[in-house]
Amino acid sequence: MFKATVVPSSHTFAAPAHQTLLQSAEAANAPDLKLESSCRNGTCRTCLCQLVQGQVTYRIEWPGLSVDEKRQGLILPCVAYPASDVKIRFAA
Ligand code: FES
Repeated sequence: MFKATVVPSSHTFAAPAHQTLLQSAEAANAPDLKLESSCRNGTCRTCLCQLVQGQVTYRIEWPGLSVDEKRQGLILPCVAYPASDVKIRFAA
C-alpha cells in the first residue's frame, strides 16, 4: 500500500500497488481529487499528469507517452500503478 499526494493541495489518498492511480483517486471519492479520464487504457491522454516524486510502473507495453514525456515525468494515471509513494500534479 502506497500513499499518493496531490500537489499543490497536499491532499493524499491510499494507492494500493494493484490498482491504477486513477482507480485509487476515484476510490478516495473526494471532489478535489477528481481526475479527468476517457479511454482508461492509456491511449487518449486525457488523464495526463505530472509525477513530481516517486515511481510508477505500467502493465501495458505502450502507454501513450513519448520517451521525452516519460523523461519529463509525465504519466498516464489510468494505466500507471504506483511502485512507491508518489506525488502527482493532476494538470500536466
Ligand atoms: S484516460 Fe485515456 S489515457 Fe488515461
